[in-house]
Amino acid sequence: MTAISKEMVDLFKRELELCKVREGETVAVLSVGDSLRDYAKAFLTAAKKLGAKVIDVNLPAGKATTAEDRLKDFGKNPLADNPKAMAKLKAADLVIDLLVASFSAQEIEIRNAGPRMLLVCEDFEILKRLFPTPELRARTEAALSRLSKARTFRFTNQQGTDITYEFGTNYRALMEYGYVAEPGRWDHWPAGLVASCPRDGAVNGHVVMDEGDIIFPRMQFLTEPVEFVVEKGIVTKIKGGKEAADLQRWMEGYKDPRAYAVSHIGWGTHTAAEWALKGIGMDGRSYYGNVLFSLGPNVEFGGKNDTACHMDLPMRGCSAWLDGERIIANGRLLPDDLKAAGF
Ligand SMILES: [Fe+2]
Repeated sequence: MTAISKEMVDLFKRELELCKVREGETVAVLSVGDSLRDYAKAFLTAAKKLGAKVIDVNLPAGKATTAEDRLKDFGKNPLADNPKAMAKLKAADLVIDLLVASFSAQEIEIRNAGPRMLLVCEDFEILKRLFPTPELRARTEAALSRLSKARTFRFTNQQGTDITYEFGTNYRALMEYGYVAEPGRWDHWPAGLVASCPRDGAVNGHVVMDEGDIIFPRMQFLTEPVEFVVEKGIVTKIKGGKEAADLQRWMEGYKDPRAYAVSHIGWGTHTAAEWALKGIGMDGRSYYGNVLFSLGPNVEFGGKNDTACHMDLPMRGCSAWLDGERIIANGRLLPDDLKAAGF
């Protein structure tokens, strides 16, 4: 285990301040086995400095030990068999989730009981570099507000992408800006993005990912274009060279037709995010002005598709329109409320 540095305690204290942790509140830190115990100790120390009561909820180690393993397994976690731990977490005001209980039934149960919840599992360098700010929050909230009201989202790129999403169901749009100050809210530090899901079956067009675009969770930069033909919300063809064939084989490996459903769409809002394959990939997903195309599950948005094949596909240099208003031009956000100062 890495030693807890003063730098880590100070950074986590600033994060808890953004989360408005007050004297007398209860902060529960959820971890498993030896994983991220340095983060757990630093959060507990930082919360105490702010006058909060702290609870260290450290579950016995299961099979999945790294954050990557647990992300692959998301939706399943050892809390399901641990009512005592659940009771402690539900009684807290803020839960720091180092276990990746996020995206599970337990996460929802905890937040419905009142606590706000923050997922933290990226490398320390990334947490530091992508430390959230109120400006990031403001432009991400503005993005959510526009995206939730829109009826359509269309995006293009120079490789020939042209696809339109139609909204208008009970699916909720989501935003992540890296801290939680209100009861029941969930977020992920570090992140900066918005996303919404189309009406079932209401996406048509084609997406041509360019060389240099990213395939998560495969942690892969494409070295040649890959085209997805989308009809009525489903990818019906994947075209291209060797990388398209590899990708298709990998998706077929899940033996689940729901893997081909088009899922959320939105864009990145974090100006400090790098176009890089680092940690679990929050840089690429949050990259300012990317279009984040995604295939697979939509349960996070209120849908029923819970396929295990979940692909996040950030693309650079795209142009995008909400209800016909151009909001991104070749990777640059245009409207003042969505734009970061100096970008
Ligand atoms: Fe996704």
